[in-house]
Parts: sequence; structure tokens; C-alpha cells
Amino acid sequence: MEIINRRQRMFSISRKLRRENKTVAFVPTMGALHEGHIALVKEARQAADVVVVSIFVNPAQFNDKGDLERYPRDVTADAAMLAEFEVDYIFAPEENEIYPAGFSTYVYVEGVSESMEGAARPGHFRGVATIVTILFNTIRPDKAFFGQKDVQQVAVVRRLSADLGFETEIVVIPTVREESGLAMSSRNENLTPEEREKASIVFRALGEAKSAFKNGERNAATLTEIVIKAIRSEPLARLDYIAAVDAESLEPIDKIEDREAVLAAAVYFGNVRLIDNVRLNRKQ
Ligand code: PAF
Repeated sequence: MEIINRRQRMFSISRKLRRENKTVAFVPTMGALHEGHIALVKEARQAADVVVVSIFVNPAQFNDKGDLERYPRDVTADAAMLAEFEVDYIFAPEENEIYPAGFSTYVYVEGVSESMEGAARPGHFRGVATIVTILFNTIRPDKAFFGQKDVQQVAVVRRLSADLGFETEIVVIPTVREESGLAMSSRNENLTPEEREKASIVFRALGEAKSAFKNGERNAATLTEIVIKAIRSEPLARLDYIAAVDAESLEPIDKIEDREAVLAAAVYFGNVRLIDNVRLNRKQ
């Protein structure tokens, strides 16, 4: 396993891999790796000759300076973890390798970037779309792996990839959860033990709505009300938003018909903001 810090080095490795007709699977991360990332790495390992994982805490996608400062960082521990899963390259550039002086080109995906996380965190998806464009262009992966937990990020990256003509297949892996049901996230590290225990309410609340859907409830307002009520029952939780949206366009919906829908929520515990979602489709 090689750790690459320079963009030029990453460019020349990816050129070499293409010359050798090697397929490349890519897992973009911001480090602080957990089981959720490892699930992506394992899928990537099965999918291609070479696995590249990037570790870069992307300042352009943080609209809150405190959140950026609090974001956990430990590249040494991350590298040790990735070595166990036969990763070939870690791309871990410094900030000035990605955003050198004079950097002034940003990518913005209209429509899917605007609701939910986009509304709550202005500029977030502009930062995500920009870094993903830079990483795809540097690494040129055949496949890139993303987690379903970040459902809106997936929609943004799919749109971005289609619109800019990247030849990278976007592969989405189901959310990995702690035993309590809490979705794995690097931000879970910032919860107190009590908050971490109580945070499973987010999944339970979404689960209650999903059960109602399975029992025939199709009204989005009724389903979101179930989530609101359950979250309110936990004093440590503060609901930021709950939305029922079309799974592909992320447009809000009133009634869940044949197309797959997603119920997505963001909930604060102290100053830690957690997101989670469940898919609602008739086949489940
Ligand atoms: O999901 C993440 O960790 C980040 O948004 C990503 C895709 C690595 C871009 O910085």
C-alpha cells in the first residue's frame, strides 16, 4: 500500500494503471474511518484490480467552521485500518495540493443540491461536487463507492457524473449501523456516551414510519408526522428537518405512489448533527 500526498504522483499512477488496463475502484472519504467506510472498501476490493481510497477533509464542503475544526482526523490510524483490507493506494493530499493559491473553479449541481442538506448547509454540495470532480479527474476510477446514508450526496454525484460525462460508475452501498440502529458516521465520535445511546431514536423514528408505509400508509405528511412525534419523545434530540422526497429527483412528494421515495431526517444531539434516511418502495 502506498500513501500518496501529491496530486502529480496520483495522476501518474492513474495513467500507468490505465496503460496496464487495470480497473480501478475508488472510495472517497474524509478519514476517521469506521465500519461504514470498510463496507465500501470491501465492495471496492471485489469490484476491481486496484483500490484507491482518498482521505481529505474537504474545507469547501463545510459551511460551519466549528464543524470543520471538530471533524476527527487520524490518518495514521486510518492507514493502519486500510492496510488490513488490501487497499493499494491512499490518496491523502494536503489542502494546498487540491486548492492551490488562486483556485477559483467550483462545480454546482442545480436542483438536487437545493433541498434538505443543501438548504440547511449552504454551499455544502458545491464543495462536494467540486472535490468529487477533482478526485474523479485525478484518479479516473472505473467505479466509485458511496454510502446510502448520504442519500442526497448520492443524487448530486450521480447527476454530476452524468452531466460532466465521467466514465465512473456510481455504486451505492446500504447504510451500516451500530448495534442500536444508529447509522455509522465519523460524527458519532463527537457524541457523549449518553447522546450516542439516545441517538438510535433517529433510526427507530424512521423505522416506525417505514412500518406504517408497509401497512399501507401513503400520505407523506402522516409519515413525516410519525417521525416528528417519535423524535420529540427524546429530550436530547432536536429535529432539524424531516422530508419525504422522490428517491431520484429528491423533489418533495405528498403521496407515495409507484416510484421509490425516501424519508430523510437531520437531527441534532448537542451541537452534533446526524443524518439518516429510509427508502420506501412497494417491493420491500
Ligand atoms: O462523504 C464524504 O465523506 C464526503 O462528502 C466525500 C464524498 C469524501 C467528499 O469530500
